[in-house]
Amino acid sequence: MTTDVDAAVAAGYVEFADREARGVSPAYERLAHAVARDGRLLALLGTVPAAKRQPNLLFAVVRLLGGPVEDPAAFGEFAAAHWPAVAAQLRTRATQTNEAGRCAALLPVLATLPQPLALLEVGASAGLCLYPDRYSYRYGDHRIGDGEPVLDCALTGVAPPARRPEVVWRAGLDLNPLDVTDPADAAWLDALVWPEHTHRRARLRAASTVAAADPPLLVRGDLVDDLPALAARAPAGATLVVFHTSVLYLVPAPRRAAFADLVRTLPGHWLANETPEVLGHGALPEPPDGTLHNVLALDGTPLAWTRPHGQAVTWFA
Ligand SMILES: C[S@@+](CC[C@H](N)C(=O)[O-])C[C@H]1O[C@@H](n2cnc3c(N)ncnc32)[C@H](O)[C@@H]1O
Repeated sequence: MTTDVDAAVAAGYVEFADREARGVSPAYERLAHAVARDGRLLALLGTVPAAKRQPNLLFAVVRLLGGPVEDPAAFGEFAAAHWPAVAAQLRTRATQTNEAGRCAALLPVLATLPQPLALLEVGASAGLCLYPDRYSYRYGDHRIGDGEPVLDCALTGVAPPARRPEVVWRAGLDLNPLDVTDPADAAWLDALVWPEHTHRRARLRAASTVAAADPPLLVRGDLVDDLPALAARAPAGATLVVFHTSVLYLVPAPRRAAFADLVRTLPGHWLANETPEVLGHGALPEPPDGTLHNVLALDGTPLAWTRPHGQAVTWFA
C-alpha cells in the first residue's frame, strides 16, 4: 500500500534526480528514480525522521557502508538487507559536504575587502572553505597561486581577482564540526562526494592536507546562539568576514531570519553564498541556465549566480 509519506518521499527523490543529479551524476540520477519506484525502500525511509530521508544522505550512507551505487537493483537489495545499519547511520550522520571549490566563488569578493581578513565561517563542516588564501585558482587563462588544490572557475561579468586575500585568523562554527584528521570523519566526507566526481575527491584530499597542516579553530555551536562569542575572538586590526556557503537551506526560516538580523549587527562584512530562496533577495536576474545556482551576496546585496561547487560565477549585469 502506498502512503502519503511514501508518495512525498518518492516525489523528493524524483526532484533530486531531475534537478540535482541529471547531467551531474548518472549513477545518482538512476538510483533516485529507482528509489522513487521501490515501495519497500520508501516504506523503510518512512521509519526515519523526515530530515533523514534525503537522497544525498541515503546514498552517502550506503557508500560509507561499502554498498553498491552503480546498479540500482543491487543498491536496493543492499539497503534493505542492511537496513538497521543504514538507519543507524542516517540518524547519526548529516549532509556535511565540504567543498573547497566554493572558495573560487568567494575569492572575487574576498580579494576586494580591506586586508588583512579575519574569516569566520558558519556551517563550516571541516573548515575547508577557510583557506581561500592557500588554494590556487584558474579563472580561464588567469592563474592565481600555485600548488594544490587548483580550483577551476568559469567567471563571467567581472574581472578575475588579482590576488589571494591575506588571512590572519580563521574560525568555523558548526553544529557538528568534522575533523579531517579523524579517519571516520574523513571517510564520511569522502562518501559525500558523488561517485563519478573523482576530481572532487582529489580536491577534497588536497584541501584536507592543507587544513591538516594548519588546522582552523572549529567550534561546536549554532550560527545564531554562538556567533557573537566567536566573532568577539577575532583579532582587532583585521576585517571580520562572516561567511557561509550552502548552509541556510538546512536552517529553519525563523532561525535564518534571526541569523540575518544578528550578522548585520557585527562589525566587518557578511558574505553569503546560498540558494536564492533562503535570504529572500527579491527580484534577481534570470539564472544562466536551469541548473541549481546559489546567489553570492555581500552585506545583503546580491552580486552573482554561482554554481554549487564553485565551478562557475556569473556576475549580475
Ligand atoms: C552542506 S554543509 C556545507 C559546508 C561548507 N559551508 C561548504 O560549503 O563546504 C552545511 C553545514 O552547515 C552546518 N549547519 C547546519 N545548521 C547549522 C546551524 N544552525 N548552526 C551551525 N552550523 C549548521 C551543518 O552541520 C553542515 O556542516
